[in-house]
Amino acid sequence: MDRIRIVGGNHLEGRIPISGAKNAALPLMIASLLTDDTLTLENVPHLADVEQLIRILGNHGVDYSVNGRRESQNEGYSRTINFTARNIVDTTAPYELVSKMRASFWVIGPLLARMGEAKVSLPGGCAIGTRPVDLFIEGLQALGADIDVDSGYILSKAKNRLRGNRYVFPKVSVGATHVLMMAATLARGETVLENAAREPEVVNLAECLIAMGAKIDGAGTSTITIEGVDALSGARHRVIPDRIETGTYAMAVAMAGGDVLLEGARADLLQGALDVLAQTGTEIIPVNSGIRVRRNGSGISPVDVTTEPFPGFPTDLQAQFMGLMTMAKGKSRITETIFENRFMHVQELARLGAHITLAGQTAIVEGVSKLKGAPVMATDLRASVSLVIAGLAAEGETVVNRVYHLDRGFERLEEKLSGCGATIERLSS
Ligand code: EPZ
Repeated sequence: MDRIRIVGGNHLEGRIPISGAKNAALPLMIASLLTDDTLTLENVPHLADVEQLIRILGNHGVDYSVNGRRESQNEGYSRTINFTARNIVDTTAPYELVSKMRASFWVIGPLLARMGEAKVSLPGGCAIGTRPVDLFIEGLQALGADIDVDSGYILSKAKNRLRGNRYVFPKVSVGATHVLMMAATLARGETVLENAAREPEVVNLAECLIAMGAKIDGAGTSTITIEGVDALSGARHRVIPDRIETGTYAMAVAMAGGDVLLEGARADLLQGALDVLAQTGTEIIPVNSGIRVRRNGSGISPVDVTTEPFPGFPTDLQAQFMGLMTMAKGKSRITETIFENRFMHVQELARLGAHITLAGQTAIVEGVSKLKGAPVMATDLRASVSLVIAGLAAEGETVVNRVYHLDRGFERLEEKLSGCGATIERLSS
């Protein structure tokens, strides 16, 4: 199993190209199931989760080809990929595939809408929480689907097409919003989704669906209206820059110090998090080519945050922000409201010398003047990267084990950071 070795203490100076967003690319790839034409996606990041979803889509009959520039010539790394679901050969998403990546459960929406049936394994829990699928079931039922749960599978049918309806999400869910929006594009009549997720990835998906011929209004607000059409066509669409990768590197600079241009980043995708970073004393300067992040030696001010659905502070940046707060000049409180078990980095940060106590869903972080490198264990994607950030600022050597978590969501992490002066390398075994 690969590990990452970091020797902390260097300032970060230079530029980091921001990749296409994993969490935008995944639903966009799944949208290719809605049409028998080719959907061309630009700026698809090269990540383990993307490769896994390519395999899952292949199982349903989706062909793909990569036609971007060769990677060696491509500074931005991400690729252009064509997806063609001319013949859906299988409407079953088996346990062996869905259990590896929760987002693959989302194929249920397009398969049901286009083929009138889907049999999809329940994804089960995962490290960060129980993550049920009740909203997907309830929402698809509202669109007229017959749903049974049997032997760990959701069996869904819509004999005479899905029917448009009004559905009010009892809780904001990004995945359920993606799925119901995709399903409603091919339903008969109008669907109104209320209390929908407003994340930029939902907007990116809606724009792609519109380019494919869907009639969608209101994506990015909490009410999305979809007028169903008979069929969708192919399109060409670009994945937005990754706001979580952007925020992660911004926090790395805030913590290690330095001056870095996050190339291709868009401030509007994470303004809430950037505002918080600015309060910590980090300079955030939006420029034409991205966002410049700079911190001098004057120290990190503590700031309290609570995770919230967009446009609030994202749960996917909570672990990284906690990393930053471990070296703040004072006490901060970080409250997690989206997932019930997303504090697994706390124990590992403590191994580096952080002072953190947990009170329910709130972590109280008492800043220390220095961290000291140690071997640590990655537990999930964002927790892992918080350990990398902390390692960059810690004295001495940090080795992060179980790096496969990082490979799910950070494209060429070591290369990007070492390009800015960090001492970081992958140890293969
Ligand atoms: C997406 O997950 C992201 N994943 C997550 O990123 C992100 O943390 C999350 O949204 C919140 O922003 C992808 O986009 C691939 P939710 P998703 O449905 O859609 C509860 C990362 O690190 N819920 O918005 O699965 C759920 O348990 C990942 O890249 C139900 O109760 O999240 C949670 O408490 C991790 N019933 C809350 O809603 C349901 O049927 C929000 O989850 C569905 C969700």
